[in-house]
Amino acid sequence: MTCTYTYHGHACFTLEGDGVTLLFDPFLTDNPDAKAKPEDFSPDYIILSHGHFDHMPDTVAIANRSDATVIGVFELASWMNSQGVASVHGMQPGGSFKFPFGRVKLTIAHHGTMLPDGSYGGVAVGAIVDLGGVRVYFTGDTALTYDMKLYGEEHIDVLVLPIGDNYTMGPEDALRCVKFVNPKVVIPLHYNTWPPIVQDAQAFKTAVEAETDATCIVVGVAESVTL
Ligand code: NI
Ligand code: MN
Repeated sequence: MTCTYTYHGHACFTLEGDGVTLLFDPFLTDNPDAKAKPEDFSPDYIILSHGHFDHMPDTVAIANRSDATVIGVFELASWMNSQGVASVHGMQPGGSFKFPFGRVKLTIAHHGTMLPDGSYGGVAVGAIVDLGGVRVYFTGDTALTYDMKLYGEEHIDVLVLPIGDNYTMGPEDALRCVKFVNPKVVIPLHYNTWPPIVQDAQAFKTAVEAETDATCIVVGVAESVTL
């Protein structure tokens, strides 16, 4: 497998493989945990899970500087286009598309979505992404849902999921998600950014590795792991 995951805090991460960089949910400028700045990124694509302020506020600046294509649900992609992003690719949950780097399929997530100006941002989603021979399932912000069992039939290598609780799955439901998806590797995110979502990621790792066959990698902010 040849795909590198780098964590930038909260739900922001990059995947790099086959000479392509994918940036997920850029939230850097106002992210108390972020060490990187929007200027540090030159992604080829930006993939958005939903329109909440903690998932997309640096998208326009990064996309315009790097000519990145923004991938997300149609309503969110159209809004980004209206904000000045030249290249967008709108999709909907359940839809997949083969990009030059690999396939992206948007997945069902149970979560709210509203853009900062009050616009409707479409439904929240996750994504199953193929890059560098690795299949990554990023659940996005979501409750545990039985649909995850169906995505588990798609031979997921790496599962990236929130454990923060309050706004998303907490550690107990995230562990049940791991059992539904049956990945080789689990990477937790969307925790410790603010007091309501403080969690013990090492305890989550211990539980995952005790109760499933997966390896759980706790990736710190600005750290990378090759998958
Ligand atoms: Ni959200
Ligand atoms: Mn969030």
